[in-house]
Amino acid sequence: VAAVTHEAESATVSRGLVESNHAGFTGSGFVNYDNVSGSYVQWTVDAAQAGRVGLKLRFANGTASSRPMDITVNGALAADDRAFPGTGAWTSWSTTTLTADLKAGTNTIRATAVQSAGGPNVDHLTV
Ligand code: GCU
Ligand code: CA
Repeated sequence: VAAVTHEAESATVSRGLVESNHAGFTGSGFVNYDNVSGSYVQWTVDAAQAGRVGLKLRFANGTASSRPMDITVNGALAADDRAFPGTGAWTSWSTTTLTADLKAGTNTIRATAVQSAGGPNVDHLTV
């Protein structure tokens, strides 16, 4: 099945802002997480059938410190304190890939910052 890109700027955002001031994003922008624990971006992803898939998150982190996030699928933890390390600049975007089980139909995928610094800037999720 062809990968589908789900932009962060089209997702549900809690305690974050859609911005476009750091080049290199896809779509019309990215989400700048508020610098608080608990800020998140949540995507709705449809799957034709149940199964294990790759979740590829594209992000930038212009600091020297990781901005870890929990990744949940339908409320269940798929990645605990997933590292989003520094990428060298806010305009340098990297991807990190994890695997998770989706169910047939509508799935909810959420990336939640777990430290007070908040999350990295997040561009999109490709499934
Ligand atoms: C800077 C940067 C933001 C980023 C923020 C942060 O303000 O411009 O895009 O989100 O740092 O440290 O989280
Ligand atoms: Ca931020």
